[in-house]
Amino acid sequence: MSKIFISCALPYANGPCHLGHLRSTYLPADIYARYNRMIGNDVLMVCATDEHGTPIAVKADNENKKPIEISKRYHDMIAEDIRSMNISLDSFTRTTDKKHYDIAQNFFLDLYNKGYIYKKDITQLYCENCEKFLPDRYVQGICPVCGAEARGDHCEKCGRALEPTELEEPECLTCGNRPVIKDSYQYFFKLSEFQDDIEDYINNNDNLPANVKNYALNWLKEGLKDWVLTRDMDWGIPVPLDDALGKVIYVWGEAFLGYISSASQWSEHSGKKWEDYWNDYVVHFIGKDIIYHHAIFWPALLDAYGCKLPDNIYAGEFLSLEGQKMSTSKNWVVWISDFVEEFEPDLLRYYLTINAPLNKDTDFSWKDFQRRNNDGLADVIGNFLHRTFTFTHKFFDGKIPEYKNPSKEDLDFEIAIKELPDKVGEYISNYEFRDGLLEIFRVSKMGNKYFNDQEPWKAVKEDMQKAANTLYLSNQLAKVLAIVLKPYIPTKADEIAKIINIDIPEKWDDAKEFLPVGHQINKAKPLFKKIEDDVIDDEIKKLEENLKDSMEEDSMSDIITIDEFDKVEIKIGQIKEAEKIEKSDKLLKLQVDIGDEVRQIVAGLAKFYSPDELIDRKVAVVVNLKPAKLFGTLSEGMILATGESGALLTPDECEIGERIQ
Ligand code: 2FM
Ligand code: ZN
Repeated sequence: MSKIFISCALPYANGPCHLGHLRSTYLPADIYARYNRMIGNDVLMVCATDEHGTPIAVKADNENKKPIEISKRYHDMIAEDIRSMNISLDSFTRTTDKKHYDIAQNFFLDLYNKGYIYKKDITQLYCENCEKFLPDRYVQGICPVCGAEARGDHCEKCGRALEPTELEEPECLTCGNRPVIKDSYQYFFKLSEFQDDIEDYINNNDNLPANVKNYALNWLKEGLKDWVLTRDMDWGIPVPLDDALGKVIYVWGEAFLGYISSASQWSEHSGKKWEDYWNDYVVHFIGKDIIYHHAIFWPALLDAYGCKLPDNIYAGEFLSLEGQKMSTSKNWVVWISDFVEEFEPDLLRYYLTINAPLNKDTDFSWKDFQRRNNDGLADVIGNFLHRTFTFTHKFFDGKIPEYKNPSKEDLDFEIAIKELPDKVGEYISNYEFRDGLLEIFRVSKMGNKYFNDQEPWKAVKEDMQKAANTLYLSNQLAKVLAIVLKPYIPTKADEIAKIINIDIPEKWDDAKEFLPVGHQINKAKPLFKKIEDDVIDDEIKKLEENLKDSMEEDSMSDIITIDEFDKVEIKIGQIKEAEKIEKSDKLLKLQVDIGDEVRQIVAGLAKFYSPDELIDRKVAVVVNLKPAKLFGTLSEGMILATGESGALLTPDECEIGERIQ
């Protein structure tokens, strides 16, 4: 018996679970875990919510809440999503648990003491108004490569990784001010030192699937660079060093340890050692977007710590929805919680497995979901089981009939039934979950054909033994189905077992034992129903309405009401003084007379005008903007000018102080 450590990628606690998470990670991990438990392996399957990082902190800021309130809200939702899908986790904890903090800080210290983490001086964006360094997502600006609006350390348009200091026209996302570049320091992990070890690990690990290997090798070709492992933030795990006040461990520097902290909390109450599982066989189930992190960064961290590296990393590819990329912001998603309100969870488990192999991108479409359910589960498996059970009752009082003098057809079918568990098992062991399910369907289709060809409804009148053999074998397949379907659709598999009137099978080997002659089965009941067109049409309509609403919201967000516009107070002003601001080639400091007072305003006009050219110019000024500091200089208003050419709105014939309505 082996011990197996299975982990599912930690979901960020900033949103509930959708179909993509389930397909790439939780479902395959669960199929693998359930099967391994059934063949007698000792499985520890862990997960946790990933609760740090800037998106959660920014969301909390936006909602005026504490980050922990946000992450708790989503932890609870995700836990419910996972439970409702029957994902059989042994442990589901949080990266905000004390145990996780202890493990993550000790890990950091260990690497620091070994010299794998070092301090380095860097320059960073700093908001003088908020008085803080701006980590990644707290800043937005213009991508220096493609000119699109980019956020933090990444441009979505051209896909480049950026240093936030490279952004043009950067803006603090909290207050809108222009941040300045300031000297700072952070702690770096010496990833570059692990180039050879990781190359060996990837090249010599035969378990790794092709997609993981190929991605990893491509990155290795570019050469590994050291990773900055800390951030200046309040939300996160404090860096456990005296001279690192106000710094936290970067979320990717501690999230992985969620696998360990979840397992170690499990150890505390189970009395078993999680290390025994890790040291035997570890497999991480992840989505393909985090292959780099798991195939390169995490093994390097483990190597530095002196710990065994993962035996396998299984990465599910992307799932689109109705042919389009899923998008939570556009509401182009199907949430698990919405799905289970309408349908049984097993229908989704089935569809997401049969739809495509895990290592291929695929699409969820409601019509295809309906078709696969109706033509597959209902027509093939449902139909086979229903006919078997009702005929057994009709002609044999619900008892397994005697099997005698089998024909060639009987023997062929018997062999297929007997071979099925091993074949499915082999596929699942090789992570070929879809192929295992296809094999189950192949034999079930064979069962339907056999049933049709044997015509037991006729045979009962002419050749009773032929009918008995047909029903004997069909019930045996039904029993095998109750076992081999269990990793895929556990609830339905147990319902089949209940109709067959056997104990809920726990072991794969239970499939080897045929039902004895005379065994009484229970009354048939429909297990798999067809999904009607109107139900699917409603789902499609819901999705389209969501999209429409979010598009309307988007376009509405550009439109303001007259009352909102009325709040903007624009007055005629006259520039009295103008001077350059040191270290800035864009900004000028102006003194502007707006009638009842002279205001100091910092304006981005230096590229278009020399200070002298502006003296006495009449300009339109927004006078009720919240004051802000730019390059340390107070600005109490805004001069209206065009962005590209800096052309001023010059209302020469107006009086100073007049309001523009
Ligand atoms: O990409 C993500 O959703 C991350 N929250 C995954 C973390 S997995 C691991 F590091 F724990
Ligand atoms: Zn700010």
